[in-house]
Amino acid sequence: MKTTVAKILMALVAVLVLAAPQAVQAKELTGDLEIFSWWAGDEGPALQALIDIYKKQNPKVDVINATVTGGSGVNAKAVLKTRMLGGEPPDSFQVHSGQELIGTWVKADRMEDLTPLFNEQGWMDVFPKGLIKLIGTDKGIWSVPVNVHRSNVLWYIPANLKKWGVEVPKTWDEFFAIAPKLKAAGVTPLALAQNWTANHLWESVALASLGADNWDALWAGKLKFDSPEGVKAWELFGKVLEYTNSDATSLSWQQATDMVIDGRAAFNIMGDWAAGYMTTTKKLVPGQGYGWEASPDTEGEFLFLADSFGLPKGSPHRDNALTWLKLLGSKEGSDTFNPLKGSISARTDSDLSKYNDYLQSAAADFGKDRVVGSLAHGVAANETFMGGFASVMEMFLKTRNPMAAGKACAQLAKKSGI
Ligand code: BGC
Repeated sequence: MKTTVAKILMALVAVLVLAAPQAVQAKELTGDLEIFSWWAGDEGPALQALIDIYKKQNPKVDVINATVTGGSGVNAKAVLKTRMLGGEPPDSFQVHSGQELIGTWVKADRMEDLTPLFNEQGWMDVFPKGLIKLIGTDKGIWSVPVNVHRSNVLWYIPANLKKWGVEVPKTWDEFFAIAPKLKAAGVTPLALAQNWTANHLWESVALASLGADNWDALWAGKLKFDSPEGVKAWELFGKVLEYTNSDATSLSWQQATDMVIDGRAAFNIMGDWAAGYMTTTKKLVPGQGYGWEASPDTEGEFLFLADSFGLPKGSPHRDNALTWLKLLGSKEGSDTFNPLKGSISARTDSDLSKYNDYLQSAAADFGKDRVVGSLAHGVAANETFMGGFASVMEMFLKTRNPMAAGKACAQLAKKSGI
């Protein structure tokens, strides 16, 4: 009797041991994965590096890299909206952390809660608390941050400044002192591109004019846009615009950066994707081929934004998308993507030896500066405000009326719940 029981037990153990490898082996993923973003063309190499890793890990998945050209998502966001409202979401899409995510897609109940993924991957401990707050509500966590970008950066070419005999301006007064000299030499003092880059320039100028406390107060609804401080920011912006190129609206941000590289313009205020462009695409060496400084009067302040990817409800290939999100949030994914993108990792444990001099300086600043949220890139306000702000900007570029712009923004803030 004993031996029979022992035999049965041994046979069972053998079956379990043989079956075990299959039980722990994850199911091989197949089918499509459609990723939607605006990282097209020159903006593509960092995303492609992530896709390459994903393909290696999941060779049977067909990755559809759906991109819509247009800096800061100007065109992509409109296409995404049509698809989401039409019930045809991609598997995963790029969205800025902050109000663009929470005040738009989460509010409309279009996203899946990723809290289980964050717990499973131990991400609650590796992403900064402040960032988790921006992608979360009391009901869940709604996207996976892939980077941290800085908006308030002034770019220049050291050799050109030397040739023209000008120094990097630390304040707007210093800029106004050298700008006429540059203009007289046939050089555009500050390169500007299509209208979203005017929003981008506006936020650096407004931060300089208002200071970080008042900047935060604007978005918390504690300081009015048509207050003397709010209007003064538009006044300074109008003055800065006097020194930009007249063909701005027809240029992409890369073309405005090219003006600086080619010596047609002295400076450009752009997010540090410009560092990615100058390093990865243009092969310039940070610190030698190109230089940077906090935009005038914003030293010690880090105007921040973070790209992230979410999982829309109804994602057609949900498992494939979850595996994509796992890769995005991983240390390997992050430290592969960011050095090419011109951004720093959103993780606190990234391997800085993989990052160039510019990015190491950005990481150091992010650690010690006062961090405030970008308007132009989704942190501070939702899409309702941003849509209206684009019209205010268009009006201002034509009329240059600070009071009218301040008043229009004040109305917009009311309408969009600020
Ligand atoms: C995004 C960046 C992108 C830039 C230019 C920003 O809104 O956050 O990732 O490089 O737009 O397209």
